[in-house]
Amino acid sequence: MRHFLTTADWSRSELQGLLDRAAAFKSGTVSRSLEGKSIALLFFNPSLRTRSSFDIGAHQLGGHAIVLDAKGATWPLEFSDGTVMDGSEEEHVREAARVLSSYVDLIAIRCFPEFKDWGTEREDPMISAFAEHATVPVINMETIVHPCQELALMLALQERMGSVEGKEFLLTWVPHPKPLNTAVANSALLIASKFGMNVRMLVPDEVYRLDERYMSAAEAFVGEAGSSLTLTTHVEAAYSGADVVYAKSWGALPFYGNWDDEAPFRAKGADFMITPEKMAMTNNGVVSHCLPMRRNVKIADAVVDSPAFLGIEEAGNRLHVQKAVMESLATQGGS
Ligand code: CP
Repeated sequence: MRHFLTTADWSRSELQGLLDRAAAFKSGTVSRSLEGKSIALLFFNPSLRTRSSFDIGAHQLGGHAIVLDAKGATWPLEFSDGTVMDGSEEEHVREAARVLSSYVDLIAIRCFPEFKDWGTEREDPMISAFAEHATVPVINMETIVHPCQELALMLALQERMGSVEGKEFLLTWVPHPKPLNTAVANSALLIASKFGMNVRMLVPDEVYRLDERYMSAAEAFVGEAGSSLTLTTHVEAAYSGADVVYAKSWGALPFYGNWDDEAPFRAKGADFMITPEKMAMTNNGVVSHCLPMRRNVKIADAVVDSPAFLGIEEAGNRLHVQKAVMESLATQGGS
């Protein structure tokens, strides 16, 4: 049984198949592939786009979505095996996953890391436990990667520029008042490198290097594609000639759980907000962000409100790519 936990598990041609199906949905193709089927959307964290686009997508495919708020409307869940459950968790994933599987045909999970211990959290324990114990396919709605966002971004790029092969993709760290999840940065790195783009990472300091799992996966992808991966702290070098600028803020992994000590490194990126002046250095580039996004902290109004901004198309594409993912997983048995 196939899950959709990370695009690393899916080949480029399989992902392109999902993108092509998503483009067909966007162009008006109708499918009732979820007729009589249900999906549980389990949220441990807030959402605007993910929640609404999965719910509407399931409805458009003829299915039914049930939204579960895992931090209030359901029992607190334990994922570790062998734990003496005498704390706040009332239920183990071993039971919850199997019970939900007896009701629904797909389970989708959003569970951000807790920003305490990257050594544990990099194993993505909650969704991994669901994937192990559920008897239906599991979809990642953002944990330590955000694969649905990856597909939405790639569809938006292909719509805007056709083939992305050999295009210059800049993943730039941008300011934010607090350290954030690395999921979208990991994902941007994975999808851009997998699709043969030349990837540049702009960071305030080398401490913002992403987890080696994703850096080395990207190295392998660009090696296969004959493209490149570079990491720089130099703004002009990063922006010069870029075709795509992708904005994300994230916390530096060496300071995980010890965030006060990250502050001096974060301060080095104080002027990393995306401005018209920076965009003028690009190759008439487009700019995007996964949203939600703090205006005039991450990206200046003049850029967000310009035709170069792809963030609305990218967010809109979530509906179509997720329909393709749900259809693919729900029909893998041939139904
Ligand atoms: N980009 C994204 O996942 O949006 P939400 O957090 O609103 O779902």
